[in-house]
Formats: sequence, C-alpha cells, structure tokens
Amino acid sequence: MEIDQEQKFQNKIDTEEKIEPKDWMPDAYRKNLIRQISQHAHSEVIGMQPEGNWISRAPSLRRKAILLAKVQDEGGHGLYLYSTAETLGITREEMINALQDGSAKYASIFNYPTQTWADVGAIGWLVDGAAIVNQISLQRTSYGPYSRSMVRICKEESFHQRQGYELMLALSRGSEAQKEMAQDSLNRFYWPALMMFGPHDTESAHSASSMKWKIKRETNDDLRQKFIDQTAPQIEFLGLSHPDKNLKWNEKRSHYDCGEINWDEFWRVINGDGHCNRQRVQHHINAHEEGAWVREALVSYQQKKKTKAA
Ligand code: 3HC
Repeated sequence: MEIDQEQKFQNKIDTEEKIEPKDWMPDAYRKNLIRQISQHAHSEVIGMQPEGNWISRAPSLRRKAILLAKVQDEGGHGLYLYSTAETLGITREEMINALQDGSAKYASIFNYPTQTWADVGAIGWLVDGAAIVNQISLQRTSYGPYSRSMVRICKEESFHQRQGYELMLALSRGSEAQKEMAQDSLNRFYWPALMMFGPHDTESAHSASSMKWKIKRETNDDLRQKFIDQTAPQIEFLGLSHPDKNLKWNEKRSHYDCGEINWDEFWRVINGDGHCNRQRVQHHINAHEEGAWVREALVSYQQKKKTKAA
C-alpha cells in the first residue's frame, strides 16, 4: 500500500505536478521540506540584524528609506516562509524554539559582522544576489506553497540586489576612501557569499533526495557556478579587484574556474562558532521576549471575538 502511494507520489513529481498540503507525501519528504523551509525562514529573519544595525546611521534620507524597506521585506519573507512550513504540520512555536536552542540552522552569512556602510551595499549585491540565484531555481520546487512563495520573494530580492549594486557603484565612483571601503567590503563578503550555496555536491547530505523529489532543482555547485559567472563582470564594471586570485575564464567549459572556499571556516560558522552566532540568537531571544505581550494581546483578542460570536 505504502509502496503504491510512493510510486504515485514520485509519478506526480516526475510529471511536474505540484504537491499540495493535503496530498499524501512520504514522511521523509515532509521532514526534509520542514527542515529546509524553516531554515530558510530563520535566515530571512536573522538576516534583518546585520543590516538593521545600519538603519540609524544611513548617510542620507534616501538611503535610509531604501534600507528600511529592504529590512521590512526580509521580515515579510520570513513570515511567508513560516506560514509555508506550517502547512506541513509544524507549529511556529516549534520552529522558533529550534532556532533559539540552536538545533535549527540559518544562513551562515548572517554570522559575519557589518563593519562599514559599504557592507550594506555588499550584502544587497552579493548576499541577495546569491539568494536570488538559488531562489529562482526554487520557484520550480515541487511543493506548491513553497514554490508560490518564492515567486513573490524573488521579485523583492531583485530590488534588494539592485539597490546594493547601486550603492557599491556610488562608492566605487566616489573618493579614494570610499573606493577602499567598497573593496574591503567585497573582500570580506565574497567568500561567505559563495558559502551560501552549501557544501560541494559530494559532501551535501540532503541533495540526492532533494533532487529526486525536485525540492531542489539544481545542485549546490551548479548554482554557485552561476553566481561566480555572473559576479565576475559586475566586479570588473565596478573597477574593483576580484578577491579570488585564481579566477580564470575557461573557454572549454564556458565558465570561470575558481579558487577553493575555506571549508573549515564554513563548517565552523554553520556549527555555531562564527563571529556573531551567539549575538544573533541572543538578540532574537530578547526581541521575542519583549514581544510576548503583543502575542498575548492578540490571543486574548481572538478569544474575546470567539466568545462574542458563540
Ligand atoms: N548556511 C547554513 N547552513 C548551511 C548552509 C549555509 N550556507 N549550507 C548548507 N547548510 C547546512 C544545511 O542546512 C544542512 O544542515 P542540516 O542537515 O542540519 O539541516 C547541512 O549544512 C548540509 O547541507 P546540504 O547541502 O545537505 O543542505 P541542503 O540540501 O538543505 O542545501 C541550501 C543547503 C542550498 C542552503 C538549501 O537548504 C536551500 O536552498 N535553502 C533554501 C534557500 C535558503 O535557505 N536561503 C537562505 C539564504 S538567505 C536569504 O534568503 C535572505 C535574503 O534576504 C538574503
């Protein structure tokens, strides 16, 4: 019976039919999706912190308004994604607990500090840029609600990427000190941005099943290569030097060959020992506790409405 169900499920996937919340699905598919979507949601929400750090110090009203809108968008992305994960039978509370007790991961990049104003540009350009490469592919993921949420998120990420690049362009066409600031920021964020795509395919624990079930449509290494290829001419246009000294166009492959990521650093950061891991989670805990009264007020308002209606 179960085998029959699994075969039918796989046939649906193979014929590009979306899986919807009430459809039968293997437990492992459900678990894998909950893991990926909730970690994706946590990344969006934790990702508000490094940039939020600069809202009150933005150099002009225009820059401040853009940054404020971007950070709010990220909060919204987190909310769509938590709702998406909830359709699979996990509660918001369970997900938040997993984030706060360290059992759920979030994107490693957000454990790096934002030291200068240029970091706001580098994050928009490189981090949102990497997120888009990954998320365009996820628009075709097999789970319907996840796929639909990606469509809207990608539109907003695209604005985020452009504002970041425009900021970097202004700095790299500015004074010598501004150009240096842009270069320093590129140097610090380039490699962590490449790490966002996850470990090499041969080291990726979830890729085989995720590709079979079309949760992922392209592998970690293929997506990373796309990002490397699209970023090289952007760096050139800015007039900055490329942080990867081994980067070289390969005529035969029609792709750039590149240097190796520092994988020790990657595993250290995702396992909790990055520069800002503790600070990010503690800040989330504090904000969550400070917001407890809002959640309580909402619940009692809903209860009151129900009693009135009964
Ligand atoms: N940061 C943190 N953890 C990472 C990671 C990274 N850059 N790359 C991999 N990992 C974790 C995985 O989550 C997994 O951990 P787990 O087993 O404890 O869950 C482990 O390392 C092994 O990696 P796998 O390759 O086997 O994992 P996946 O198949 O899940 O692939 C992924 C990793 C490519 C990140 C995939 O989960 C994915 O595409 N996720 C959805 C996109 C996403 O989460 N993006 C976050 C980017 S930030 C963002 O969107 C905010 C925006 O505003 C900038």
